[in-house]
Amino acid sequence: MAELTLIPGELRYEMVRKIYEGGMGVVYEAQQQGARGFVKRVAIKVIRERYARQPEFIENFIGEAKLVADLIHTNIVQTYHLGDFEGGYYICMELIRGVNLEQFIECLQRRRRKLPIELAVFIVSRLARGLAYAHSKTDRDDRLLGIVHRDVSPKNIMIAFEGDVKLTDFGIAKARGFLKDKEGEEVAGKPEFMSPEQADFQITDKRSDIFSAGVVLSLLLTGQNVFKATTAEESRQRVVECLLPDFTTLNPDVEPRLNQMLHRAMARNVADRFQTAEELLYDLEYFIYHKGYGPTNETLGKFIRELFREEDDSSAPKTKGGTLKIPAATRGTGGTKDSGGTARTRARTSGNVRGSSLFDQIKRKLR
Ligand SMILES: Nc1ncnc2c1ncn2[C@@H]1O[C@H](COP(=O)(O)OP(=O)(O)O)[C@@H](O)[C@H]1O
Ligand SMILES: [Mg+2]
Repeated sequence: MAELTLIPGELRYEMVRKIYEGGMGVVYEAQQQGARGFVKRVAIKVIRERYARQPEFIENFIGEAKLVADLIHTNIVQTYHLGDFEGGYYICMELIRGVNLEQFIECLQRRRRKLPIELAVFIVSRLARGLAYAHSKTDRDDRLLGIVHRDVSPKNIMIAFEGDVKLTDFGIAKARGFLKDKEGEEVAGKPEFMSPEQADFQITDKRSDIFSAGVVLSLLLTGQNVFKATTAEESRQRVVECLLPDFTTLNPDVEPRLNQMLHRAMARNVADRFQTAEELLYDLEYFIYHKGYGPTNETLGKFIRELFREEDDSSAPKTKGGTLKIPAATRGTGGTKDSGGTARTRARTSGNVRGSSLFDQIKRKLR
């Protein structure tokens, strides 16, 4: 086949705003500019300068990009490109016009709104779809990659205002031949969303992600994470002990059948868990659809648009593209809250990007 050689420098990005500023990296909304006025909105994730000098972080960042390059699924944020600029690297990806699940939950709590049970189950069923796909991904020789995400938690799950649920951030995922894996020595991820084996420094497999998906579901259903303690270490210990409550007592709307599913997803012993994300997906879908019409992307989209419209005092939530403007309060991660203790999860308030030196630097460098 004929080769198409692209001239370096033709790929131009203009940073539009900062979406998120984390401990290790910054995510921007950017405009990719092509020939003759072609413009496409994308998201760009850049490693912070101080980490960019550490070979291990760079290896993991590059590993993440390579790992997700071929993950093409509606429930996974798609990566377009890994690029470099003057020694730094960035990942260009599909822009999700929406919020992460942490922002979504915070907004629900702020507005004292209850998430309908069926929508909570729907969200996690979409997550399970994304996981099922990633877990069964093979390489070109048809060998299973053995992907385990290892950081399935609200900040890494996004909901678009159209109602699509997408898993992101494979930054600490493991897979054969990709990211540098320190399993058994180090615990990475957010303790209160980890599986007991992960929190106990053991080797994990895909069933670890199923546990985490169960924790996310329990949080959505009851508004609380039963493993969350005041310190990261206490949370980790709670996970290792893995004492599960009867979730019907935390929210009477949770049916016993759903409680059973939660207990199965979060079984301490991996052999007692759903063995695959497909199994979890099947049960979740059966739960919401066996009676007939159940939730869809459309109903979730409607719910989230209404939720954030109410949030926006200006009562002019529409932007040009027909999507909602994220109110200032929900931009970034909402700021200073410690979300669980690991250095990589701590986020800072992100405001307007203009004037920030890093922004200027990147803007200059990426051009
Ligand atoms: N493709 C994207 N589109 C829009 N927002 C994104 C995108 N990717 C990430 N974000 C936002 O940035 C946050 C951090 O991204 P993530 O990839 O999880 O970085 P980190 O490794 O710092 O945790 C997410 O929680 C989400 O709010
Ligand atoms: Mg993340």
